[in-house]
Amino acid sequence: MKTIFSGIQPSGSITLGNYIGALKQFVELQNEYDCYFCVVNQHAITVPQDRLELRKNTRSLAALYLAVGIDPDRATLFIQSEVPAHTKAGWMLQCTAYIGELERMTQFKDKSSGKEAVSAGLLTYPPLMAADILLYGTDVVPVGEDQKQHLELTRDLAERFNKKYNDILTVPEVRIAKEGARIMSLAEPTKKMSKSDPNQKAFITMLDEPKTIEKKIKSAVTDSEGIVKYDKENKPGISNLLTIYSVLKNIPISELEVKYEGSNYGTFKADLADIVKEELAPIQKRYHELMDSEELDDILDHGAQKANERANKMLTKMENAMGLSRKRK
Ligand code: TYM
Repeated sequence: MKTIFSGIQPSGSITLGNYIGALKQFVELQNEYDCYFCVVNQHAITVPQDRLELRKNTRSLAALYLAVGIDPDRATLFIQSEVPAHTKAGWMLQCTAYIGELERMTQFKDKSSGKEAVSAGLLTYPPLMAADILLYGTDVVPVGEDQKQHLELTRDLAERFNKKYNDILTVPEVRIAKEGARIMSLAEPTKKMSKSDPNQKAFITMLDEPKTIEKKIKSAVTDSEGIVKYDKENKPGISNLLTIYSVLKNIPISELEVKYEGSNYGTFKADLADIVKEELAPIQKRYHELMDSEELDDILDHGAQKANERANKMLTKMENAMGLSRKRK
């Protein structure tokens, strides 16, 4: 069985973008692959975090993975900091990476531009992400569009490591959904929907109340034409809403255009708000049950154990390949 690895940062509330671009896919993939899903809390500390918030968000994200339908009997769910092999392999891969290629990462440029105190971790984050993936002999990495460049770097690092030391790392393939791989901001639809957006109206979180969802969709920026039609260039707002509708209901956009021919944006948005609310209601219910349960801790303990076993095997191979292991006399 082929292996899948993917991770999500527990930085703030998980958005509908994370759900559509990543989580929703994971649920479908767990039937076909040996899946490892990770709460990448060590990635989150590349930018300042409040200690208690980070702890809460870490548990919350783990609960959400399960609430959307990740089955712990099929997939391994764990927290990155509970598997020390990640930072160890991350260091080896940092020493395999070049500063120049890290500085070229668009996410690094975006997140560091105009800031004075940029952590070194923000620059060296992609080799840690590569370690996450490569430790599991991962074949496929399902992610949203914004992670494509990091995946290309992961592939380069794996190939470089294999050539330089020993041919032990699997070079993974990236898997990006055909639709919904880049859900846009509701306030500025030419920008990605992001949990770190200071404008609360720009994103819907997985835990938003029904009323909030309605308000946010109602106030989503569209255009003055008033025709429900997909045109990413000229009508990015309504195109984004059509994408969300299409992915959640599994109806092709062309069919939606026919359905809403002659309707105004108000009608379309009201329907979309109902769809989003219906999608999130059972997830939120399950989430709240899990958050205070011991079941969640048991699942995470078991996940960490399984992940440690698997990751340590590859870590040993990597240490041997680089000469980091001691041979007893
Ligand atoms: P993160 O935490 O920013 O996002 C988690 C996942 O959600 C996807 N995503 C989106 N998809 C569609 N539309 C959007 N607006 C949107 N915003 C986010 C992301 O592409 C991602 O798949 N570096 C990663 C976390 C990571 C990782 C890994 C991923 C660490 N190690 C190993 C895969 C494999 C990140 O910051 O994702």
